[in-house]
Amino acid sequence: MCGIIGYQSQNKEAFDKLDEGLKRLEYRGYDSFGFATISEGNLLVEKKIGKVSTSSIKPLPGKIGIGHTRWATHGKVTEKNTHPHKDCAGRLAVVHNGIIENFQELKKDLILKEHIFLGETDTEIIAHSIEEFLKIGYNLKQAVIGTGNLLKGRNAFVVLDSTTNKMIAFRNGSPLIIGIKESEIFLASDIQAFLHETNEVMYIDDNEIVVINGGIEFFNLKNGEKIEKRRIKIDLDSNVFEKGDYKDYMLKEIMEQKETLAKAINQDAQKILHVAQEINNAKNVFFIGCGTAARVAHTAEYVFSMVADRQVNFIPASEFENYKHFLLPETLVIAISQSGETADVLEALNVAKEKKSRIISITNSPESTIAKMADFPFLINAGPERAVASTKATTAQIALVILLAYACTGELIEGDKVLLDVAGKVNDMLNPRYKEHIKALAEKIFKKENAFIIGRGINYPMALESAIKIMEVSYINSQGFAGGELKHGPIALIEENTPVIALVSEGKTKEEIISNAIEVKSRGAYIVGVSPENNEVFDYWIKVPEVDEVASSLVNLIPMQLLSYYLGKFRGHDVDCPRSLAKSVTVK
Ligand code: AGP
Repeated sequence: MCGIIGYQSQNKEAFDKLDEGLKRLEYRGYDSFGFATISEGNLLVEKKIGKVSTSSIKPLPGKIGIGHTRWATHGKVTEKNTHPHKDCAGRLAVVHNGIIENFQELKKDLILKEHIFLGETDTEIIAHSIEEFLKIGYNLKQAVIGTGNLLKGRNAFVVLDSTTNKMIAFRNGSPLIIGIKESEIFLASDIQAFLHETNEVMYIDDNEIVVINGGIEFFNLKNGEKIEKRRIKIDLDSNVFEKGDYKDYMLKEIMEQKETLAKAINQDAQKILHVAQEINNAKNVFFIGCGTAARVAHTAEYVFSMVADRQVNFIPASEFENYKHFLLPETLVIAISQSGETADVLEALNVAKEKKSRIISITNSPESTIAKMADFPFLINAGPERAVASTKATTAQIALVILLAYACTGELIEGDKVLLDVAGKVNDMLNPRYKEHIKALAEKIFKKENAFIIGRGINYPMALESAIKIMEVSYINSQGFAGGELKHGPIALIEENTPVIALVSEGKTKEEIISNAIEVKSRGAYIVGVSPENNEVFDYWIKVPEVDEVASSLVNLIPMQLLSYYLGKFRGHDVDCPRSLAKSVTVK
């Protein structure tokens, strides 16, 4: 949520590097963007509303600079609220990611000290607070430390100082990483911003500041002491971040599911068995996550019940604190997060840590904060997911959850076999004819304003997830329900030709979900069946491979991802960057 970029070189111009880096961070927010550089001792700032990839801005001269792409939290999407923000004197420029929870109190104090605020953001207080510390005689480093220590919440910021020609970064709770290429220094919210330039990095940890002034010096925020850091080479090819032959990341990532399921279950067997033992020994187990990852956590309840005869609990991460009195040292908290940076999940894990509960993470990013907090971090190895709508990471997470459940029953090899079979079937399923068939359905229904998805058993959380997908990419009001729930209220919304999509699997829920489809069809609904077999109640049939009931969660979801994609395209939306959303939600 919000992307930060910084750059310094002895002999190269900064602007193109900042611009390119920011474009690669656009997935983090795309309401507005801006840059600041220093040229001949002058601070230059340019900002614009809109997306950095589709709008141009006048290049700024200078060999040091910062940039920011915003996802608005405090204050509307206006140029005044766009970062970078300046202090009163115009000496400093600041870019920020996070939320300063005590900003009202800090702002009041700074206004009393006669600082002038131009917009409504919380970020502006950083520039004015540093200015205030400088006024009373602190040097820049001390002023950043002083300000950093005042901020409550999860934050990262970079300040550019035109007087000293320095850039100082602060991290506490929001990601920041440094890249080094000979005499060039990059600073970004995510390695994606500079991986095309260098794979040599230095990690900034929480409660640290970094002074960049030709060299790179790390300091502890609490006592100001210097910290020694290592340079690390990351084994990641920047091509994995490219779209290749695809028009959109979302379609590319959906198609990558031909391989990602098999990669997700390719785990160290010893580690899986060890974690399975932890699950079996735990007094209670909580799966947590947000949004789509919460739907995976919800699916885990069904998976463990069906495969391992084990009760586990699903709690949305943002609600987890309400359950803290159930947390014991023998409790296991399993956090699911593609990015590994989601603020609500981090908050929940802090609660788990306080209670000394054990933590397992299932993320797609080895260096993420959530992975680092876990006692046992699992990686789903899906490769970077750039589209805001999660697709390949979701199915990879579900596959790993299924594998863990099999391991809990001592049947890891059987689990592997089942999932490899599914991976093969998904590979066959994602062919051009299949895509065309789903596209034809999207063309029929894209003008509808409502759509309902129903499922039973494990396909109930899949119905909820399908609704999230359709809603976030096409903006159609789509809602998911347990099949049996429809007639307890939502059926009142069914009108002639309202699309109702039934997720069917071969198993004990099949007949009941077909009955639910018949009930709504008799009220005029247009029934789409996602099912291994056709049925006379379906007005449109999307065939899925026949797999066991647990794995139907995987094969039923994939056509729904494709349908969401095509609905978004027919409605003319930017499917990779849906309105008001961001890929990595690093604020509460
Ligand atoms: C997914 O399509 C959504 N964009 C969103 O719900 C997402 O799953 C959620 O914000 C959690 O993200 P995470 O997996 O990175 O924690």
